[in-house]
Amino acid sequence: MKRKINLISEALMYIIMVLQMLYVFTGNIVHELLGIGFFIALVTHIVIKRKWFKAVFSGKTGRSASRRFGDIVTLLLLLNAVVLMLSSMGVSRTLFPWFSFVTNVDLHRYLATSMLTLALVHGGMHCYYVAKNKRRAVILIVILAAAGIATGLALVPYINRHFRKVEIDLSEKTAGEKLELTEQKPLVVYFTRLGNTDFEEDVDAVSGASLMKIGDEYMGNTELLALMVKDAIDCEIVPITVIGEKYPSSYSETTSVARKEIKDNVRPAIREIDISEYDKIILSYPIWWGTVPAPVATFLENNDLSGKTVYLLATQGSAGFASSTRDVERMAKGAQVIEGLSIYSDDIPDARAEIAEWLKSVFE
Ligand SMILES: Cc1cc2nc3c(=O)[nH]c(=O)nc-3n(C[C@H](O)[C@H](O)[C@H](O)COP(=O)(O)O)c2cc1C
Repeated sequence: MKRKINLISEALMYIIMVLQMLYVFTGNIVHELLGIGFFIALVTHIVIKRKWFKAVFSGKTGRSASRRFGDIVTLLLLLNAVVLMLSSMGVSRTLFPWFSFVTNVDLHRYLATSMLTLALVHGGMHCYYVAKNKRRAVILIVILAAAGIATGLALVPYINRHFRKVEIDLSEKTAGEKLELTEQKPLVVYFTRLGNTDFEEDVDAVSGASLMKIGDEYMGNTELLALMVKDAIDCEIVPITVIGEKYPSSYSETTSVARKEIKDNVRPAIREIDISEYDKIILSYPIWWGTVPAPVATFLENNDLSGKTVYLLATQGSAGFASSTRDVERMAKGAQVIEGLSIYSDDIPDARAEIAEWLKSVFE
């Protein structure tokens, strides 16, 4: 009976770990509930395996080198699980909003990656103990470890970028604290993929992380950020719009086109934007291949920004500002460039309050 419960709890943990990596499809509430399920399965597993602690901590010698390695992996796994549990509660939006310890989202992702990797190695070690061909078992463990790391660091971000679509209530998400600026209002200039995409007949053919669904309409992340700024300080917002060939509706194709543009220093033609009456510009853009999208580079190089201040408001899928700040400084000749916020794409729908705080600190 114990054996059966243990097997079920182990299988559940592996299944939940895979499902947790697919949270772009399961959604936040399912992700949080599954997280709780995971920890219940883990506690069950620990209770059943409690004799293992005795064996490890009894100080009895005689455990082989491979057993000791397996013990270290298991201890690290437990430590990882505890910190991951704290960070899961810290980043929780629905079930533990009052818990504000270890709130870093990036840290949560790294902990999930190391958890998956250690769990796979832990499972692999059980195969090693019973394997006849130990060399093959070692190869299996190395492959499992590499798969865990690759899944957490590459596959999951890739899936997120390609499939994330979030339904939001636009008026609810953009509404919030209003700020009265005493000085001249800044102009918000933003670029978003969606406004520069070559739609095919069916708008649903557009794929990608950047999509917010508002009723039947889609909106890019950066446009939503610009609307949040507009709501907070009642200022003008202007999109950077390419003229001529737009970006393909497929996310993957867009990434290829964008990569080539950035590599070849292409400057796509854009609609003119009159910035002459503004001293302060909030430039909002998604990070593309670690820098600003090529049409943003066109904007920066086509306009005289000398003497102006450019505040950066970026959105990204994990990169922070990457090298965009340095690149904007180089392209916006004579301008003072100030890093503002770089908001992770998942966090954009709920970024209104953070944006208001930032605007207050800069403009009030
Ligand atoms: C062509 C392309 C390249 C991207 N490159 C990166 C990148 O290097 N680093 C990153 O963190 N996110 C990257 N992303 C993700 C976007 O920065 C992120 O999804 C952003 O919120 C999209 O904003 P938008 O909807 O306004 O276009 C890329 C997205 C696209 C379409």
